[in-house]
Amino acid sequence: MSVNKEIKRITTHVLQAMKLRGEKISMLTAYDYSLARIVDEAGIDIILVGDSASNVMAGHETTLPITLDQMIYHASSVVRAVKRSLVVVDLPFGTYQGNSKLALESTIRIMKEAGAHAVKLEGGAEISDSIRRILTAGVPVMGHLGLTPQSIYKFGTYTVRAREEAEAEKLMEDALTLQELGCFAVVLEKIPAELTKKVSEKLHIPTIGIGGGVHADGQVLVLHDMLGITKEFQPRFLRRYLDLFETIKGAVEHYIEDVKNRDFPNEQEQY
Ligand code: KIV
Repeated sequence: MSVNKEIKRITTHVLQAMKLRGEKISMLTAYDYSLARIVDEAGIDIILVGDSASNVMAGHETTLPITLDQMIYHASSVVRAVKRSLVVVDLPFGTYQGNSKLALESTIRIMKEAGAHAVKLEGGAEISDSIRRILTAGVPVMGHLGLTPQSIYKFGTYTVRAREEAEAEKLMEDALTLQELGCFAVVLEKIPAELTKKVSEKLHIPTIGIGGGVHADGQVLVLHDMLGITKEFQPRFLRRYLDLFETIKGAVEHYIEDVKNRDFPNEQEQY
């Protein structure tokens, strides 16, 4: 199925309707104006300004160091490029956990200063107060369960989550809690495909999978991973559509050669 160009602007209501008619939802990350413009023009449904910017843009090992100001800088660049997609922005680590007032303040900054359309938070029942308070301000909230990278030091590894029955049951309960609170969608990261299926069938809001198998209502990948700009990150769920690392490297090597050989610029490339 190709992109529905009839839809001029993706909203949370459009996503809900997509789930109802069984149309899959496409989502990718973006962190800057130039790439967000391409991704939006291609017809992606949701652009996530993910805190994975901490890894792919800033070179940190985890998502924890990125600040609210840095997220707002990335998000405002993306929003300026986007005409059709829904722009969701991650609340970074330390801006919502255990403090619903702070969660609302952080969200308001993201909405006002970046012009985002929604926010995403990691966690289940333990962040209910923060989600509830953000929703009272009329801001749509996307949940995120399973592998939640902001809790990496609690889990210790990036392996598949909720393989054990107890953890799978807890995830299902959390997904239902997020739905009852009023979240418009929930990301399910790196969990067994069978569990994604169960959760997606149980919820009436869309699920968006990353490493969660085909049964999620939509899929998300980190843009730099699927374009092959990042090299080392090679989980099983990642499909690389390009090898841009080598393509860009080749172009830069070519340019260097041309400069050194006095091939660039030529007669037509000067004034
Ligand atoms: O920050 C991010 O890119 C994310 C996706 C992996 C879902 O949260």
